[in-house]
Amino acid sequence: MKQSFIPAFLKLYGLPPQLLSSAPGRINIIGEHTDYNLGYVLPAALNLQNYCLLSQRPDEKVCFWAENFKENDEFLLGKISFSEDKKWVNYIRGIFWVLEQEGFDLQGINGFLWGDIPLEAGLSSSAALEVSVLNGLRALFRLDLEPIRRVKLARRAENEFVGVQCGIMDQFISVFGEKNKALFLDCETLESKLLPLRLEKEGLRICVYESGIKRELASSEYNKRRDDSSRALDQLKKFGASDYKGTTLSFLENRRKEMEGVLFRRARHVITENQRVREAVQALEKDDFRLLGELIFGSHQSLRDDYEVSCPELDLLYEVAREFPGCYGARLTGAGFGGSGIALVRKERIPAFRAKLLKEAARRKFVRPEFYEVEVGEGARANFLAEEDNR
Ligand code: GLA
Repeated sequence: MKQSFIPAFLKLYGLPPQLLSSAPGRINIIGEHTDYNLGYVLPAALNLQNYCLLSQRPDEKVCFWAENFKENDEFLLGKISFSEDKKWVNYIRGIFWVLEQEGFDLQGINGFLWGDIPLEAGLSSSAALEVSVLNGLRALFRLDLEPIRRVKLARRAENEFVGVQCGIMDQFISVFGEKNKALFLDCETLESKLLPLRLEKEGLRICVYESGIKRELASSEYNKRRDDSSRALDQLKKFGASDYKGTTLSFLENRRKEMEGVLFRRARHVITENQRVREAVQALEKDDFRLLGELIFGSHQSLRDDYEVSCPELDLLYEVAREFPGCYGARLTGAGFGGSGIALVRKERIPAFRAKLLKEAARRKFVRPEFYEVEVGEGARANFLAEEDNR
């Protein structure tokens, strides 16, 4: 894959690329809408990645070509502005902008981007784009940037430049993911632990279900949920709670009558989801995939009923999965409101499960979903290209 675009780079810019950078998309196994509530998450990097070839220019100009869109972008360092008409360019401009904000001295760049992460499908193609560009620039300009600082800067670019109030999960897993491992992250302390995913022991595979519902329009709903959960916590603080992680379900239930119904449910999701993540870690440590699957189902129910971020197309996955022998667990993954779901399925049962999903989706006149196996891949990498790569 990397080889095939080097000639295109050469043709476009007249000089060979110096470096190849890559960063993965992600699935989140469990722990949804908990990152910005400073709770726990358990994502894993995908084998689907964004790639980026880069070389330095002697001037102040930044040029990018995006193969997936067949579009280019050009801007000048020191004069970086938000683009209203091309969405993808803002993720790149945001990275240059944040590096300038932090006082790094940059130079112009020629860049070439492509990737195989489905776009706007809730699989974090944007975090992968940010991280691949940032990692590449760091290597090329030898910027003094620890991995954790890269995570924070990529998130800041998305929050402050692109204007999406995401949490830290997607950038974190894109930087720190490892092959065949899930990552347990405390989003408050940023302490993390990689856990082996020994799915083959049980003959299981992770499958992605793309609902086909684009979640682009949903960012205002995402911000509403952020707002609800922070207002719910403010109410709980009046009763003596200090944060979500340290609040038990019984504490919340004792305050039920004093809280607004919606806020009570939002808080119940966050509190129970944190608990499910803790239990999922224990399940993984014991290779107890039945338990993990039940927790995954429980997460979907809570996201559907308490956090209200599901939609009929994602509920279909859950409903079919619940009844299907050989599927251990399924739920929406990422922000919800469309996008994708994941399912833990026994390998030999995947074709039948897929057929059942497609049949049910057609019966309900839904957009035809995509359903495919994925692998848990490695985190971001940046490598200088050897001379022979460029020939
Ligand atoms: C999106 C955001 C993440 C996280 C999830 C929900 O993917 O980018 O930070 O909040 O939604 O868990």
